[in-house]
Amino acid sequence: MSTARTVADRFRERFGHAPAGVWSAPGRFNLMGEHTDYNGGFCLPVPLDRRTRVAAAARDDDLLHMVSLDVPGEVDVPLHEVRAGRPEGWGAYAAGVLWALGGDGLPVRGVDLVVGSDLLIGAGLSSSAALECSVAAAASDLFDLGLLADDAGRARLARHCQSAENEIALAPTGGVDQTSALRGMKGHALLIDFLNHTLRPVPYDPARSGAGVLILDTRTRHSLSAGHFGDRHAECDRIADLLGVDLLRRIGVDDLPVAEAELGDPTLAGRLRHVVTENARAVKMADDLEAGDWRAVAGGMTAAHASMRDDLEVSLPQIDLAVEEAIAAGAWGARLVGGGFGGCVMAVVPVDRVRDVAGAVQEAFAVAGYEAPTGFLATAGSPAGRDL
Ligand code: GLA
Repeated sequence: MSTARTVADRFRERFGHAPAGVWSAPGRFNLMGEHTDYNGGFCLPVPLDRRTRVAAAARDDDLLHMVSLDVPGEVDVPLHEVRAGRPEGWGAYAAGVLWALGGDGLPVRGVDLVVGSDLLIGAGLSSSAALECSVAAAASDLFDLGLLADDAGRARLARHCQSAENEIALAPTGGVDQTSALRGMKGHALLIDFLNHTLRPVPYDPARSGAGVLILDTRTRHSLSAGHFGDRHAECDRIADLLGVDLLRRIGVDDLPVAEAELGDPTLAGRLRHVVTENARAVKMADDLEAGDWRAVAGGMTAAHASMRDDLEVSLPQIDLAVEEAIAAGAWGARLVGGGFGGCVMAVVPVDRVRDVAGAVQEAFAVAGYEAPTGFLATAGSPAGRDL
């Protein structure tokens, strides 16, 4: 578990002087709107109260010298050598942000940097965006860019963080994670419309309805740059081409029967159905949250899970089992979180049933011979900023 102090102390040990500061950014749990962002659709993320932190100082040259508390080895790369696929691994997310800011004509240089995270990595909670956005927050202050001061600046940072992920780390993601980490609001979910980039903060308060959001880590892991995620993105682009629209967002629920018939391919029709119905579920869920109707929120999640499992086909047996057992043990609803192919499930659980639900899922995993899942109650965190 890293804190602002632990990354600052490690920086001092490694570089022999104090960092200029410590910055951090949250992970997120996306209540609704998976695989909709890159289709110009709606998402409804909540910043998570678990973060990635960076202690950093600017250098006089253009070297990026980066150390992680969580991954062995150091990353050393001159900024002018950062390009698609270089550096590899976690360094790409951090270096890519400096690369993108520089490409926008902003006066960035090299940095010394130590990163530590209390997010699960590759588990659907947006660990890569938390790294990008904490580096972006640090860069904004270290190089006097002033981009944390207002929403327009934060939106610009979010775009550069997404470019880092798409163009240097080579993961063809959309922008929900970066938007949530930089532009989210404490205690709120954020309904993001990726067609016109408007935001609607919605109060997030399950406790008022006697519920909590339990996140269960199924111990299965994905890598967004490794294939499957990109396949879904490519399929959606292909469907848009076939239907003659620029974005799948243009297709509404009422258009679905005709559009599906036009595609004439059950797999592509399923992908389309997921995106279109998920958009509708996101808009409805924002209203349910506003009304404090957590039973309806939970019901939407279960429907979304079925859509991810059957239409988008991004679930795994462990994930389906966790969802089914959680509901059987008293959760009001549950779903896979994030891009899929591994990671976490979230369940809306009445507070007095949390132990029972977690226990039932653990037991079912033991019977099935799966690695034991872990869980925690999610609390809403605050957006990226300076800690020390
Ligand atoms: C990952 C990507 C996001 C989004 C989700 C799926 O988290 O980074 O852009 O596409 O998957 O909703």
